[in-house]
Amino acid sequence: MPKAPQVTSASTKEAIATRLEEARERTLLLLEPLDDEQLNRVYSPILSPLAWDLGHIANFEELWLVQTIGGREPLHGDLGRLYDAIENPRKTRGSLPILRDAELRDYLEEVRERTLEVLDEVDLDSEDALLRDGFVYELLLAHEHQHNETMLQLLQMVERYEPVEGWPLPPNDPAASGRIRSGSDHRGPSVPWEHVAGSDMVLVEGGGHEVGAGSDRFSYDNERPRHRVELAPFWIDRTPVTNAAYAEFVEQSCVEPPMYWERDGEGGWLRTAMGRSEPLAPDHPVIHVCWHEADAYARWAGKRLPTEAEWEAACAGADRESANLDQVALGTAPAGTHAEGASDCGAEQMLGDVWEWTASDFEPYPGFEAFPYPEYSEVFFGDRYKVLRGGAWATRRNVIRPSFRNWDLPERRQIFAGFRCVEDA
Ligand SMILES: [Fe+2]
Repeated sequence: MPKAPQVTSASTKEAIATRLEEARERTLLLLEPLDDEQLNRVYSPILSPLAWDLGHIANFEELWLVQTIGGREPLHGDLGRLYDAIENPRKTRGSLPILRDAELRDYLEEVRERTLEVLDEVDLDSEDALLRDGFVYELLLAHEHQHNETMLQLLQMVERYEPVEGWPLPPNDPAASGRIRSGSDHRGPSVPWEHVAGSDMVLVEGGGHEVGAGSDRFSYDNERPRHRVELAPFWIDRTPVTNAAYAEFVEQSCVEPPMYWERDGEGGWLRTAMGRSEPLAPDHPVIHVCWHEADAYARWAGKRLPTEAEWEAACAGADRESANLDQVALGTAPAGTHAEGASDCGAEQMLGDVWEWTASDFEPYPGFEAFPYPEYSEVFFGDRYKVLRGGAWATRRNVIRPSFRNWDLPERRQIFAGFRCVEDA
């Protein structure tokens, strides 16, 4: 593979500083409509208070970009203990003596100042694996981006959350150039229910498929090494399963509706998020379902969930730039909205809109090596977690790629997860 032209350290450093600033700006924009009480409030035992997330973002930045590569002492002694995600389960985070209010805001700023000082000093051409090609900076950017999504999970529960003026984001973002409707446009059915209740399928050829991430760009350890898998041919849903199709399953099987659905009193459904109820849009992908529900739907439909290798093979060639990602629309887009971003096999919305549950447990690839620390993914390997793929409307665009593996407990519904089904060909 040809190597990208060498960029000078100075321009790379400038680009890194700009991207760090952009990431922080987004984090703060999402939280701007909230007051300190809302930032500190525990909305759910399975989600951290937003003040913890903010402090954790700053502390993780201090740990890696200031202490580890800059060799500096921590600003606040062993504060890091409180922000260790493994030491402190989500249900305990609200009662920890974490930084709050003005102290928290000062900490974010002090860390960022030091981060930029260290960035100025480091040698990005160094042989150190953490610094080479700016790896540690990519890691930190992805971390903040990913925490935006966790914050958005909580923001779904905040009564009367009003995004700052200017949202949906302006059309300089390719996904916002008029193809994606804003959250407020999502009210009400735009097509008759019966026209979207079934979805057609596209064929993925059998044979050898390359999966996982190569070494030519940033990726997490769990995506590596890239390797070949042999797959039998299969059919995959052209789009994610829609609300209309899922509603039919709920009616016929008497199962619980997805999170945030409630009856409208006339036999239909309302969806309530951010404190506002709207008629459920039948043509949008179903979202906020757990793995067990996705699996039960697939069996009800006479199909099954794809393995993650099947999902990745079906995703090959999908265009990230035209996907509904990056919090642009603050909601899903109707199934079939971005046909121009379809993958090589013709599957649409493989990237963006909703994370897609797969049948697979979160296991290491053959030849896996933990880097830079086992707590990122290695400690989660095993049959407790299921893999999700593709990213959702709430995922920053920079985070997502066909090989990106997300994982969560199969009972979780607060995440932005939907699914699509497959059938053997
Ligand atoms: Fe984190």
